[in-house]
Amino acid sequence: MTRYAHITGWGMAVPDRVLTNQELAQMVDTDDEWIVSRTGIRERHIARSDETTASLATEAACKAIEPTDIDPHEVDLIIVATSTPEHIFPSTASLVQDMMGAVNAGAFDLSAACTGFIYALDMAAQAIRSGSIDNAVVIGAETLSRVINWEDRTTCILFADGAGAFVLQASEKRGGVLNSIMRSDGSGGDLLSIPAGGSKIPTTQETVDAKLHTIRMNGREVFRFATRVMASATKEVVAEAGLEVEDIDLVIPHQANQRIIETAARSLKLPADKFYMNLSKYGNTSTASIPIAFYEAFAEDRIHDGDNLVFVGFGGGLTWGALAVTWVKPEMVLTTAKRRRRRILSFFARIRSSLRRVRRKIEGIIFRTTKR
Ligand code: ACO
Repeated sequence: MTRYAHITGWGMAVPDRVLTNQELAQMVDTDDEWIVSRTGIRERHIARSDETTASLATEAACKAIEPTDIDPHEVDLIIVATSTPEHIFPSTASLVQDMMGAVNAGAFDLSAACTGFIYALDMAAQAIRSGSIDNAVVIGAETLSRVINWEDRTTCILFADGAGAFVLQASEKRGGVLNSIMRSDGSGGDLLSIPAGGSKIPTTQETVDAKLHTIRMNGREVFRFATRVMASATKEVVAEAGLEVEDIDLVIPHQANQRIIETAARSLKLPADKFYMNLSKYGNTSTASIPIAFYEAFAEDRIHDGDNLVFVGFGGGLTWGALAVTWVKPEMVLTTAKRRRRRILSFFARIRSSLRRVRRKIEGIIFRTTKR
């Protein structure tokens, strides 16, 4: 029996706080006209201090699983693609697993900058197709506002916060994630990076003072690289799927810059309206941009049963990749009883998680007392 990996649920979450170009123009030497004409971005969402990568990721994941026919305890794998994890460890995915009550899931983070969501989707789809798992939640989530140098006008106008999530499920029905290509060129690592905070340059007062924990980017070089790989990756993935570029119904590209997307469309000889864009409202949310774009494209009736979709992205690393999907509309009707049952299960999962924390503390105290 051939197994396929289908997208059966999707969700997104962005902070309420909107930062407009006009507001940015009061913070750095820029203006709305420059930002719109060079990038297409008009506004972006910025997290409050109590909103984090894990909280946005959990909100998106819970929304994604809501319409599907699985409960959180039936999720086998959670992957969070992110460049702004909650901590170096534990992984953000483990925190999401706990908050979702996905008590039977393995969980890990994946780091491939903005291309991370494509890599993660490919990992989960492979695991489903191989038969090792049935259900996965794949999330792209970022709080890039925490690693932006708000005095650097070349980067602070671009990046923003948000999360998007897919539920992937095994099915015998033909379609779903068809194939993907994943590429990397580490020789360009310095073109887009957060230099300090890892093992090479650990955190010191000097690294903080020098703003080495914020995004550094060579915009022109990244632009050149991006326009080249967006088109080549799309062509390659479509050919490997046995399709022609003309067979693509909709490309959902990483939402970095309108000019990059339009250049890719021209070089593929595809009309620009075959490329979904919503970056004017969200800016560049890195790993979250593709699932957020998918969510809105679906809501705007741009995605239909049987459509051939291409997800294509690029980012730091350098990394790039593309993934071809034949989208099959999931047939799932969730009864009120099932919804109620799910709410109860998730309530008890949260209680169990709190009890486990308390038990660990008590066991620790007993262990220390008996050792004395
Ligand atoms: N407002 C006004 N002027 C600005 C601003 C600004 N916000 N930023 C730069 N400028 C100035 C520059 O200083 C420069 O001035 P100069 O000619 O006097 O030196 C001038 O504008 C032109 O600068 P360029 O860098 O050539 O501008 P460009 O048209 O290339 O646009 C941009 C810059 C928007 C950064 C573009 O290069 C770009 O989008 N690059 C790709 C970046 C990207 O997508 N990164 C994300 C990758 S995904 C990931 O992994 C996170």
